[in-house]
Amino acid sequence: MHRAAVGGVLATTGLLSLTTLPAAAETERTTPDCDNVKCVALTFDDGPGRYTDELLDILDENDAKATFYLLGSKLDSYTEEVERMVDEDHEVGNHTWDHADLADLSAGEIKEDLDRTDKAIKDVTGQMPTTMRPPYGSLSDTARETIDKPMLLWDVDTLDWQHRDPETTVDIAAEETDEGSVLLFHDIHETTVDAIPDVLDTLSEDGYEFVTVDEMMGSEVESGSAYSDARSLD
Ligand code: NI
Repeated sequence: MHRAAVGGVLATTGLLSLTTLPAAAETERTTPDCDNVKCVALTFDDGPGRYTDELLDILDENDAKATFYLLGSKLDSYTEEVERMVDEDHEVGNHTWDHADLADLSAGEIKEDLDRTDKAIKDVTGQMPTTMRPPYGSLSDTARETIDKPMLLWDVDTLDWQHRDPETTVDIAAEETDEGSVLLFHDIHETTVDAIPDVLDTLSEDGYEFVTVDEMMGSEVESGSAYSDARSLD
């Protein structure tokens, strides 16, 4: 597609201005009905980063929606990418300011960290994130009592940050994904973004549709509770 090709050129030349991109997608997307099709939520943590724009191109080419759990401290350097996420109907969530282990923090510190991150995201997107993801999946009793959003964990851990191998990322996604899965990736690694075209192809062949966390679970998740996947809602 024309738009994706332009984005690719921008990404490889390192230019971040998106002002030359055509505005909206040609066709309006119909949100998949997750009661009748097999939905999964791809989630990307710890960004935005230098490979995020390329990832957005790949998602756009495949009409796949994703959820990005952002670090507040990184937003200033990648505001165009974050604006693009929201413009292209991806979801943006809170992953703390700088990846603190929330189990080490007091209630006041947790609230301050998450509020600061919420505000940074709202300043760029105009919207408050509706869900959060605790770094390392780490939650203390204090954190569970303090956090006033749904806490989104995952059921498919691709371990992409550890092995840094695109084929292994694809293999784990293909083997472990089930209907309602929440898959964990990190778009700060080039090897992860390299894996995504094959992840999308492989899971599409198995009949999966790629939706945001909100589209898959939004009406049923409650503030202050933790969820690993949509199956845990039943
Ligand atoms: Ni993280």
